[in-house]
Amino acid sequence: MIAMDSIPLRCLYVFILLGMSFASYNETELQLMYGSVVDWVHFSPRVDISRQCRFGHPLRIAYFSRHSGTLWDWIAVADHLGAPWTRVNPGLFQTYGVNTTDATAIWEDLGHMLCHIADILVFSDTIPDARPLLLGGCTTPIILQITNRFDYGISPSDQDAYRQLMSDATTRKHVWWVVNNPYEVLFISQRGIKLPLDRLLLLRPVGVCLLPPPQLAMRERPRVALVQPSGSYHLENTVIAPWVRSQNLTDYVRMYRQHYGGPTVLAHHRGVITVPYQTSVMKMYEGLTAGAVFIIPSPAFFKNLLDIYNNDVMVFCCRDLLRDRPHDWQEFFDWYHRDFINAHILYDSWEDLYGIIIDREGSAQLIEEKRAIGIDAMRRSRQNTLDGYSSLYRSVSQQACEAAGTEDVLSQGFVRRPHGF
Ligand SMILES: *[C@@H]1O[C@H](CO)[C@@H](O)[C@H](O)[C@H]1NC(C)=O
Ligand SMILES: *[C@@H]1O[C@H](CO)[C@@H](O)[C@H](O)[C@H]1NC(C)=O
Ligand SMILES: *[C@@H]1O[C@H](CO)[C@@H](O)[C@H](O)[C@H]1NC(C)=O
Repeated sequence: MIAMDSIPLRCLYVFILLGMSFASYNETELQLMYGSVVDWVHFSPRVDISRQCRFGHPLRIAYFSRHSGTLWDWIAVADHLGAPWTRVNPGLFQTYGVNTTDATAIWEDLGHMLCHIADILVFSDTIPDARPLLLGGCTTPIILQITNRFDYGISPSDQDAYRQLMSDATTRKHVWWVVNNPYEVLFISQRGIKLPLDRLLLLRPVGVCLLPPPQLAMRERPRVALVQPSGSYHLENTVIAPWVRSQNLTDYVRMYRQHYGGPTVLAHHRGVITVPYQTSVMKMYEGLTAGAVFIIPSPAFFKNLLDIYNNDVMVFCCRDLLRDRPHDWQEFFDWYHRDFINAHILYDSWEDLYGIIIDREGSAQLIEEKRAIGIDAMRRSRQNTLDGYSSLYRSVSQQACEAAGTEDVLSQGFVRRPHGF
């Protein structure tokens, strides 16, 4: 029969055979594999990814984060990677800075499930959220994406135990460290933890904002924006807003409360008056990407302001930084880092700021120049980040594949499949 020899038909035949063999099972083998499981309540096995690895299919990622800013950034990164992924919000079952007792309980209850929820786990926003899995010894590749102090929320009496765990984690080959700004590495090393240089990457935010497109009022173009953060201890609220009013500058300055509509709105203004209260915030990367121009104190004036005002008037995360690193503090401070500083308009005094606000025509060209510098700086930074994640994804996928089909800490009686893949 000539038709039976045609390639499509042969393929069909092979498919049917394959389908039949997959549909069957060997109970003796299953008993060998699972017979010694004792705790069926907590049992969630590691997915067998041997086939994905053999065919080079992208592995699944679980992204743990409480924070929508980091989540939006991740959505762009995952899209770039072509990675299947899901999100876990640890805030739904875990407190900030979870302690040993609670972390142990979470590990015992949810450990199997969380450790096996994907082939690669990424912890972002607050790193103590990874504590249960690190404590339990989950062997799934873990990426700790540090965006905001690795010990956020850990109580003082718990610091030693936490640091010991993190020090131990630095020696584990399947735990990777990503910092999204240069300050985090300094902060960690100052606490006696030596990060493994071959598993450490600086990958800054790509600057994505997924808010719905805002309605823009054309009349805002000539005005600068002042976003007043929540919290009475920000310099924008304690000093700058009252000063703008007292100087009768409200025709020149549009004041926003927290919900200002995102970076596109900021980019629509002539500039955005901001005072850094962290070494890096998502708003900066998102803003520069959208074409916003930030108006910030010059490094010298910023230092000066910190000397004049305490944290009740001018809150700032990292006063130690300027004391500890008097000569190179800008290297650890993305607002002032050489990769970004030229994108901002800097002022040396309040008179200087007054001049920038008042002089619409004079500042117009400077602002257009700065806008272009910022967009360009973010383009470079974004490329570096995406390339970095691509290479990281390859490395962790390789690790996950090497571990496929081997026992892990939660396997409970796992034995190698007699015929293996
Ligand atoms: C099932 O697996 C066992 C153990 O590997 C093997 O000895 C047996 O021959 C298999 N049975 C069938 C029907 O393939
Ligand atoms: C751990 O944190 C919980 C709150 O989530 C608290 O109730 C408990 O007392 C803490 N345990 C220790 C040993 O600090
Ligand atoms: C602001 O305007 C008010 C009323 O128009 C005026 O009395 C005051 O002197 C002005 N202040 C400054 C600093 O120009």
